[in-house]
Amino acid sequence: MNKPYTFDLIKPDFIPSRYDNHIIRRLSSMKGQYLDQQAYQKMLSHTDRVLYEVYELKRPEIVGELLHGISIVHPGKVGQEFFMTKGHFHTLLETAEVYNCLKGQGVMVMETPEGDWAVEELYPSRVLYVPPCWAHRSVNTSRTDDLVTFFVYPGNSGHDYGTIEQQGFRKLVIEESGQPVVIDNPRWQPTGGR
Ligand code: PA5
Ligand code: NI
Repeated sequence: MNKPYTFDLIKPDFIPSRYDNHIIRRLSSMKGQYLDQQAYQKMLSHTDRVLYEVYELKRPEIVGELLHGISIVHPGKVGQEFFMTKGHFHTLLETAEVYNCLKGQGVMVMETPEGDWAVEELYPSRVLYVPPCWAHRSVNTSRTDDLVTFFVYPGNSGHDYGTIEQQGFRKLVIEESGQPVVIDNPRWQPTGGR
């Protein structure tokens, strides 16, 4: 479709009134990502929980287009670690992304191939700019609510999941004494692969 279009983000869930693709990510797709592997296996043996969902509007994956949609991370923890997205670099590394938080509370964990890292808070009406070259992962730190964000990124960005799958993020977000805290990932290893 090459005509202007509109859609609504319908409260209270903010699911778009139209979308082309609904991605459902379950616990089983996060193998090796959570620090407490025992808690992960135990949870998985009970049920393969849905951790997050993405609603995408389909656009050509080319320069000039903007891909956009809604990401919904459900509340919960694996061990002490909050539910989160896989996280990724963009395949075309030097592409940025904008997030607007619509609901819930959480953080975006980010890092660069050079080793810089950042964690920014997300709450309703908050806008986050993820500059080119920064890997990003949304983490839901609420006990009860979905973390809902609207995202926009260049059509030719692509998703590189492999780097994060191999090395993890430098920082993890866990619950300690009822509060979210950012800790070093003891299993983080720079692959030097990028
Ligand atoms: O492009 C983005 O960064 C988002 O749309 C994410 O894809 C979404 O939040 C899901 O995360 P991930 O792609 O890391 O599974
Ligand atoms: Ni992205």
